[in-house]
Amino acid sequence: MTRTGAPRPHPAAAQPPGVSSLSPSRSFRRLRTALSLAGLAQWLAVPALTAMAALLTRDDDVAVRAQAVGGTLVLMLLPALLLAPLAGMIAARADRRLMLMIADVLRLVIVVTVPLVGLLAWTLAAAFLVSCLGLLWVAAARASLSALFPDGEPGAAARSATRAVYGPAPVAAVLFAVLALVADGTLGRGSRADLALYVTAGIFLVSTAAVAMIREIPATGAVAVPAPLKLLFQGPGTGGARGLALAIAGASLTAGAVVAVARIHTAALGGGDAGYGTVLAGLAFGLGFGVFLGPRALVPFSRRRLLGLAVLAAAIALVVLALVQNLVVVVFVSAFLGVFAGASWSTATASLADPEAPEDARPAAYLRSVALLTAVIAFVAVPLIAGALGSHRIELGDGVYDFAGSSAALLIAAAVALLSGLLAYRRLDDRRGIPLVPDLRAALRGEVYALPAAPAAHQPVHRERGVFIAFEGGEGAGKTTQARLAAIWLRDHGYDVVTTHEPGATKIGMRLRAMLLDRDTTGLSDRAETLLYAADRADHVANVIRPAMERGAIVVSDRYVDSSLAYQGFGRQQRVEDIARVNAWATGGLVPDLTVLLEIPPQAGLRRLPAPADRIESEPQEFHERVRAGFHALAEADPDRYLILDAGRPQGELSREIQYRIREILPDPVPAGTEDATSTFPAIRDY
Ligand code: TYD
Repeated sequence: MTRTGAPRPHPAAAQPPGVSSLSPSRSFRRLRTALSLAGLAQWLAVPALTAMAALLTRDDDVAVRAQAVGGTLVLMLLPALLLAPLAGMIAARADRRLMLMIADVLRLVIVVTVPLVGLLAWTLAAAFLVSCLGLLWVAAARASLSALFPDGEPGAAARSATRAVYGPAPVAAVLFAVLALVADGTLGRGSRADLALYVTAGIFLVSTAAVAMIREIPATGAVAVPAPLKLLFQGPGTGGARGLALAIAGASLTAGAVVAVARIHTAALGGGDAGYGTVLAGLAFGLGFGVFLGPRALVPFSRRRLLGLAVLAAAIALVVLALVQNLVVVVFVSAFLGVFAGASWSTATASLADPEAPEDARPAAYLRSVALLTAVIAFVAVPLIAGALGSHRIELGDGVYDFAGSSAALLIAAAVALLSGLLAYRRLDDRRGIPLVPDLRAALRGEVYALPAAPAAHQPVHRERGVFIAFEGGEGAGKTTQARLAAIWLRDHGYDVVTTHEPGATKIGMRLRAMLLDRDTTGLSDRAETLLYAADRADHVANVIRPAMERGAIVVSDRYVDSSLAYQGFGRQQRVEDIARVNAWATGGLVPDLTVLLEIPPQAGLRRLPAPADRIESEPQEFHERVRAGFHALAEADPDRYLILDAGRPQGELSREIQYRIREILPDPVPAGTEDATSTFPAIRDY
């Protein structure tokens, strides 16, 4: 890519004497182009080397061919799993520009020798060496791009490098298919796989020349390369990641299984290398589109539900792919599978990212390690199973159905992926109790599904004169403070205010509270816990809230029904509708006029609490994550009644926003001078 205009001046453009005067942004673009070329060659090497392995074993039985192809793939992936930190270390010490060029030249030489030598052992060795060099190259490329990145935003350089490294994959697959078509028409049967390898070498040559022309690449510097194996043992560093890892493993298994047997499966369907390239192209385009689509699709729908569903959809696509005996259909299904697997990837990384540390790369690196390990397992296991099972002819009525070993292996992989998708869905579901189909239908209409209004049981709901405001949120959100500040403000304006809380605002309530929160209470069933909270609430409404409202007071309660929906419903994973029904009966259908939800990530909230934790606070992190998501879902479903606030904001700001919103629901506008007239009057009660 070149620019004809004058180079844009840049603050970092002061070059040491003797260095070319290209602006950093221009060298950045040139480097990105050079890297995309090397990326294209690296990706092209994958089908080219596997096709070579298949060609060299063409006279053996299908089990040997399957293992030759699978072995090539494993050797191409193993370095990323095992040697990544080593590559990072070397990249940090060596001259980067030199390293990029050496990696290109060595890969060129290795790739060129593969068709010349024509031995399976050398093809396998070449696969391993090319990807070791590829690893070094990626580390050097990432570091060089971020050093040259023009406009300072830290994540953007990394994103640009990711695009340069992964972007050429679909193009490489298409190029391979085209080259295979050309080779089929021109070369002899024994040398059909050569052309793609020579073209790969040619592109490496062009990339070397392109890198050689860029002089500004900074020599050395720190390179952060995560160690996949270490990460797998250490975990992602944030809570609730097991479900995500399970989902990513499922998605990676579906895509990995397709790649693992694509060559022999295509042959079983009567296709050659061109067909193989087309299947890979379908998959690669699908993956790219899916990664793009993941965060943009069905925005009102829960991301975690979407992730579980995407994995299940990828697994179902794999079932179809295994059973359909038509190459064109297989190509399209591979593309669909890719879309679902790609969407799983981007949805999972987005939900694992910590909103408090968006630049933290560890969660994504952890998921990448899970994906890598699963793909290696798929590359080993799926061809082995395909070879071991072999082809079978099944008679169905009048017709016969040739069932290839690869189909059976894909079906087994699909079954495992389905299972992990189901488990992931169950673990990840943050809208438990909300039926899936209406939730999806609402999201398709661009809405958030609202829980049907809880039946107000048998008691008539009579309109009170007062106003009822509830404060809700997870542990340590600061709602007690905000509830008190709101009450003080209201009292200052002359209102009769009753501040109260749950559980334990009445005499009976205090005894229930002790039972509910004492850590010595063990073995309390979830339903009993729900009913005890509801009993406390029934007493609270009957003896505190309703009398105050009948008098015309403003009631400010620290927690109310939504706490039970979030904690006992979402947290304890009971049906939210059942809990809503029990509470509607307990409260006679009394709903707050306004609910202020203070949101805080559980880790941060729990840190704010004084030790020791009570029975509910000491629940595991996942529980509190579900509670948070539950509160959020409830609030999103009824935006008119809720005020959602980020509890991390300064206290003064939060109070002002709360006051602003309370003003809208006060019975009468506060008359001017009220403060003077009534400042000594209000009846103030604290329960
Ligand atoms: P509390 O000491 O009042 O603390 P907080 O400041 O968090 O309100 O503890 C109440 C605990 O009870 C809290 O962990 C949330 C839980 N809870 C429920 O699980 N369900 C409910 O219906 C209510 C009202 C509270």
